[in-house]
Amino acid sequence: MDQQASCRVCRGRLREFLDLGRQPLSDAFVDPSGSGEEFFYDLVVAACTDCTMVQLANEVPRERMFHEDYPYVSSGSATMREHFGRTAEQFVQRELVGPDPFIVELGCNDGVLLRHAADAGIRHLGVEPSRGVARVAQASGVDVRVDFFELRTAQEIEQERGKADVIFAANTLCHIPYIDSVLEGVRSLLRGGGVFVFEDPYFVDILEQTSYDQIYDEHFYFFTATSVDNMARRFGLALVDVERLPVHGGEVRYSLAHAGTREPTPAVAAMIAEERGAGIADIGRLERFAEAVRTNSTNLVGLLRELDAAGKRVLGYGATAKSATVLNFAGVDSGLIEAIHDSTPAKQGRLTPGMHIPVRPPEAFPDPYPDYAVLFAWNHAAEIFGKEQGFRESGGQWILYVPDVHVV
Ligand code: SAH
Ligand code: TYD
Ligand code: ZN
Repeated sequence: MDQQASCRVCRGRLREFLDLGRQPLSDAFVDPSGSGEEFFYDLVVAACTDCTMVQLANEVPRERMFHEDYPYVSSGSATMREHFGRTAEQFVQRELVGPDPFIVELGCNDGVLLRHAADAGIRHLGVEPSRGVARVAQASGVDVRVDFFELRTAQEIEQERGKADVIFAANTLCHIPYIDSVLEGVRSLLRGGGVFVFEDPYFVDILEQTSYDQIYDEHFYFFTATSVDNMARRFGLALVDVERLPVHGGEVRYSLAHAGTREPTPAVAAMIAEERGAGIADIGRLERFAEAVRTNSTNLVGLLRELDAAGKRVLGYGATAKSATVLNFAGVDSGLIEAIHDSTPAKQGRLTPGMHIPVRPPEAFPDPYPDYAVLFAWNHAAEIFGKEQGFRESGGQWILYVPDVHVV
């Protein structure tokens, strides 16, 4: 783990504003019979005083996070399958229209988006370092290079296959501390008239909803239109469009092109102006956010202790990467939450990182229903409430902690 002295994008000065303490890797679910030592790091968030980019102060080595056993599978949510189906369709209709178009995706995971390109016979390549999920993509007919995307990878792809019309990355660019190398690679690999589109959690939504569970080892950057615009310019690119997305608790889809090739839409300047109003670069606003995070955490653990004292049974739902931050920061273990139910096979039968709460399949959730369930996958609330109607019918109540701790 390296201590970052300066901004990873512009080398400007970093100002730390939130310390979430010692944390385990958010996706490192523990084998109950295993003896392997858990890896911990200090989760501290900082903002660059020059380019405004919000980022982690410490970097976890990438091979510790993204490997054969990386458990997150993109196709685990119907909402996300539909979202990426629509996204693929838009690329086919608007961007992949020339002769023999080529799309490259960084972090294609199990192929949730690229399988649509594969099915349509469109030339494509996924770059995905986590071999387990990459294999799932390959099995569905997606062409995957098992590798980390960076300048070296981009140059090799360009030599082997030529330039790309579209480069896409969902919930992946924010995972990559060495973003300078990625953007140099994109600049080289992207065709003159092409577009680099990426979507990640929106820092303004995190600020306004106190959704601090978006902060964990894998989420290194927290983008805004302001910081992305500054970053794009440093690499000969331009931010030409922004679009808010309702997925994953609030995201923005950023479109970058080679400088001077596309006219920016009015949405870009509008979002940058709004961000000034939201105080994204104002240390007072960031410190208020940090205070709201501590209050949220205290309130959650307070409620769980009250329920425990009253003899109530509490389970969790969704063993998300996000939940690692909440559980470890508050020190909530299996004394307060008996188990967390999750549909991901690779998480079931294991223990959550750090706090060691058992992960069980959703089929065991009604067996019998608890009095309360904390919804850690709050970003999938509609989908999960739909599936688990029986829980409420049994008299059960959901606990949510975004935007504040409340019972529904
Ligand atoms: N795009 C999918 C997966 C997001 S999870 C979705 O939105 O659901 C983030 C993915 O990025 C993981 O599968 C991880 O292995 C991959 N990843 C991490 N670093 C990467 C890099 N340097 N290049 C390409 N993919 C990377
Ligand atoms: P998600 O919020 O997508 O991401 P992250 O791990 O990055 O925070 O994770 C959702 C988790 O919830 C994932 O482990 C799968 C699980 N899940 C269910 O158990 N049931 C469901 O119906 C859905 C949609 C997700
Ligand atoms: Zn900076």
